[in-house]
Amino acid sequence: MVVARSIALKAVNTASLWGLNRSRFGGLPKVQTVRALSTVMSPPSKAVVYEHHGPPDSVTRMIELPPVEVQENQVCVKMLAAPINPSDINRIEGVYPVRPQVPAVGGYEGVGEVYSVGSAVKGLSPGDLVIPSPPSSGTWQTYVVKDHDIWHKISKDSPIEYAATVTVNPLTAIRMLEDFNTLSAGDSIVQNGATSIVGQCAIQLARYRGIHSINIIRDRAGSDEVKERLKALGADEVFTESQLEVKNVKSLLSNIPEPALGLNCVGGHAASLVLKFLRQGGTMVTYGGMSKKSVTVSTSSFIFKDLSLRGFWLQKWLSADKAKECRDMVDYLLRLAQERKLKYEMELVPFDKFHSALEKALGKHGSQPKQVIKF
Ligand SMILES: NC(=O)c1ccc[n+]([C@@H]2O[C@H](COP(=O)([O-])OP(=O)(O)OC[C@H]3O[C@@H](n4cnc5c(N)ncnc54)[C@H](OP(=O)(O)O)[C@@H]3O)[C@@H](O)[C@H]2O)c1
Repeated sequence: MVVARSIALKAVNTASLWGLNRSRFGGLPKVQTVRALSTVMSPPSKAVVYEHHGPPDSVTRMIELPPVEVQENQVCVKMLAAPINPSDINRIEGVYPVRPQVPAVGGYEGVGEVYSVGSAVKGLSPGDLVIPSPPSSGTWQTYVVKDHDIWHKISKDSPIEYAATVTVNPLTAIRMLEDFNTLSAGDSIVQNGATSIVGQCAIQLARYRGIHSINIIRDRAGSDEVKERLKALGADEVFTESQLEVKNVKSLLSNIPEPALGLNCVGGHAASLVLKFLRQGGTMVTYGGMSKKSVTVSTSSFIFKDLSLRGFWLQKWLSADKAKECRDMVDYLLRLAQERKLKYEMELVPFDKFHSALEKALGKHGSQPKQVIKF
């Protein structure tokens, strides 16, 4: 699409206020007020931005960003959906180890439709469904302009809400099942935070390979219903934390072998419960810290059980030249979602209700399904 347009004064002022440049994502030359007639421009973009790090509900606001030039090797994507993940919150808080420079647009994964392409772009055309893969900052806005190689074209039949959420959490679940122990059909895993998207995916991907799962959830109203929902996904056992206040948790298991792999995204007491289930020589992989409490391990767990503690960080895994593998896994996971073999709970929220969705994602209204913004 070729647009001849001079940028409205208001838009230019907004851009300079934000120090936002030719790309809305980073250090390119300042917005120009006079453009050649043939310049391809994006539409203006409505975006959730933060100028400072801090509590996400007070430092984020929705503004309109001016059109930006779509360079010859770039693609402008009209975003369709993007989730609010715990790591998005941590980036805004300024506590995530890798984060964009402020001012920044929030979000890290999502799905959109190609709106326009630069003159040198091959293989992508308007109307294609794409996701940033590996994921990439700045998805909470209506139009995103990035280099063409960031975008991965996916099947047009992909369910939008799954395409928006596939790269961070389902990928993490798959990697943790693959990378730490050799699991075979008949083996088992144990995890806390089983209601998280990672947890729900781990249950299904394990079951898909004939691996049993033992799942731990927080005590809360309606926990019986939650247990039933997780069992419907394929969970073998689901326990609330308080049910595990017994000396021998393994006596609670029916015909499931002791797990060699434990997954921990909560920390504190919930991590100790994972360790209680692990068999001799087992490994607990920590990938999140939702309770913000440390993991503590008894001396006897090391001496008599020889347990191993490991960590997983998707961003580190992706940085090890895994772009192709990442895309293959995304396609695989989206096929499973399309066939309804992989599902998880989400709530789609219109973009103008972003701040209500954010409050839910921050846990201000108790347990909530994953909040996915629909643009
Ligand atoms: N290391 C990595 O590369 C990587 C990649 C992806 C995700 N993660 C991490 O994985 C975790 C899950 O992410 P997600 O997007 O799948 O989660 P999610 O779907 O947003 O769900 C949040 C989960 O956290 C639980 N939770 C929230 N606050 C809690 C608290 N104070 N104490 C205990 N549990 C609490 C929730 O339990 P209820 O259902 O009971 O509310 C729910 O299970 C996060 O910590 C995230 O940062 C890490």
